[in-house]
Amino acid sequence: MTKPTLLSGVKPSGQLHVGNYLGAIKQFVDLQHKYNMYVMVADYHALNTVQSKEKMQQQTKELVAAYVAVGLDPKKVTIFKQSDIPQHTELTWIFNTITTMPYLMRAHAFKDAEAKNKDISVGTFDYPMLMASDILLYSPDVVPVGKDQKQHIEFARDTAQKFNNTYGETFTLPKELIPAEVAIIPGIDGQKMSKSYNNVIPLFGTDEDIDKAVMGIKTDSKEKGVALDPTTDITFKLHEHFSKKQIEELRERYLKGSIGYKESKEILATNIKELVGPMRETYTALLNNPNKIKKILDKGAKRAGKVAAAKMKEVKRAIGVTQ
Ligand code: ADP
Ligand code: TRP
Repeated sequence: MTKPTLLSGVKPSGQLHVGNYLGAIKQFVDLQHKYNMYVMVADYHALNTVQSKEKMQQQTKELVAAYVAVGLDPKKVTIFKQSDIPQHTELTWIFNTITTMPYLMRAHAFKDAEAKNKDISVGTFDYPMLMASDILLYSPDVVPVGKDQKQHIEFARDTAQKFNNTYGETFTLPKELIPAEVAIIPGIDGQKMSKSYNNVIPLFGTDEDIDKAVMGIKTDSKEKGVALDPTTDITFKLHEHFSKKQIEELRERYLKGSIGYKESKEILATNIKELVGPMRETYTALLNNPNKIKKILDKGAKRAGKVAAAKMKEVKRAIGVTQ
């Protein structure tokens, strides 16, 4: 029996943090045995915000190294760069012609940017159509993403349906896969962890970087010996993800007042370092071997390119630009 297909991607848009790991990348690892899997570096999406050659190059390498370091096997999983497969942007144009501006104006990302009065690039406005193309070229059965990406998958599904209605059955309707237990990981200030909020615990930082971030977690000013509230404390919320084995003991100590914020943070930092340590070794070794990264991406581009080219042929016939 052939395995079902899965596609997902992450933008190489900055330093990866533990929220990206738990919310996105880790899931890919858990799923690689069950699916025929495509994992993308969404560099053309990142281009809306990353407009420096050096940063784009570096962050792309870092993301590929991260994919491998967390446990994706490049022999099994097709790891590729969006920009290596021209059909992604080609299909975006075709989708643009069947999509209306009011429809794209409903996108949360667009509305947020508009609310902040940002100068919005056409690329940002059209982001959902490029993402629909990323997805629909590979006919995936599932697309694992964080909750914040749910609307984008809906847009991809709507666009597939619209194309099929206009030109005949061409695209499979994709489904998102959002594991229930993948919550939004809070940052050190209690908001969603995000590189845009400067509140992250870096995934591949040094031990010192991790210590520094964890020690900076916001707390109230209760003294040691006083009961702490595990339902509101940010450190405890992070323990729920990184200290699963000790969680009941920690909860008890919080309620009894036998732990202070400092000790709680030290335990958290130790647990994060334990998780990240072995991955960081692979990550660093790979980053120091750019040739290997290039090989992974070249192989991925070959595999992905075949699938994308075949789908694009179908599309071009369907719309009548080839006979
Ligand atoms: P950021 O918010 O730091 O810019 P991205 O938007 O690039 O992160 O997200 C990359 C992936 O990581 C997405 O799939 C997203 O759902 C996931 N992700 C980002 N932040 C978190 C978080 N705090 N908790 C869970 N998942 C997250
Ligand atoms: N928009 C996604 C994010 O910000 C990244 C992405 C681009 C993606 N193309 C994709 C995710 C295709 C899944 C499938 O996280």
